[in-house]
Amino acid sequence: MHVHTAVVPAAGMGTRFLPATKAVPKELLPIIDTPALQLIIDEAVGAGVDHMVIVTSHAKPAIEAYFQPQPEVIAKLRSSGRDGMADRLEAIGRDVKVSFAYQDQALGLGHAVGCARDAVGDEPFAVLLPDELMGSSSLLDQMARLCELTGGSVVGLKEVPHEQVGAYGVIDPIGTLDEHGVIGIASMVEKPHPDDAPSDLIIIGRYVLTPDVFDEIARVRPGAGGEIQLTDALKAQAARSPFHGVATDVLRHDTGNPFGWLTAVVDIALTDERLGPSLREWLRTKVC
Ligand code: G1P
Repeated sequence: MHVHTAVVPAAGMGTRFLPATKAVPKELLPIIDTPALQLIIDEAVGAGVDHMVIVTSHAKPAIEAYFQPQPEVIAKLRSSGRDGMADRLEAIGRDVKVSFAYQDQALGLGHAVGCARDAVGDEPFAVLLPDELMGSSSLLDQMARLCELTGGSVVGLKEVPHEQVGAYGVIDPIGTLDEHGVIGIASMVEKPHPDDAPSDLIIIGRYVLTPDVFDEIARVRPGAGGEIQLTDALKAQAARSPFHGVATDVLRHDTGNPFGWLTAVVDIALTDERLGPSLREWLRTKVC
């Protein structure tokens, strides 16, 4: 079945970015001039998604405000000949249906995804963690097609140095990666001690999940960090259904902390045709 819905967990308080996130949600912090959340939506749309479910909290009204039409601003832009920007603003929330679900208690990623159950319905769906920016839609697209083919859930994977695995969900693979980066998954564990980790393949923030995961989430008890972990619900799925990972070396930025956000902005700006050349020049004067 075609994957047309994507869930974005975006209810967190963004404590690592305080005081900036006191009034502006972390997901709306700019990557040059575009909110990170918009880049996530663009990635999902590029993989065939036409319905975004944003899991937010009532303490973050700016997330919903971002999707409100602003006809006066658009009229002003058009009357001053800035049609390109007017078109961009008009497209927000028009080319894709946006629904909201609410998670008002920080009970974990599994709980956040569970909050989207009614909005998703009974079909496979994607999950995109907005702290991670991918350079393109290609990974999610490949994952969606693999889910359609196998009828089972799929996670995005990346191989990392062994000492880093304890910060992530880690898979227990079946066999080895094939030529498309696909691997079977027997099980997985959230934030293991590196000595106990079953591999160096970590789950990155992209998932395509079959809807039976909602029943598993409802059954899961608090795990690592006392939270309802998505990884624990996926482990239960993998124990009884086909479950795969797709490993990628696509350019990926972790914008969940100030250093990662800063390097993401610089890296992306360096590839921007308007800003890249002068930024490169300026950086040379600073670092040499
Ligand atoms: C979450 C998931 C973890 C995954 C990670 C990817 O962890 O629980 O399995 O590997 O995202 O970034 P968090 O970063 O919320 O601690």
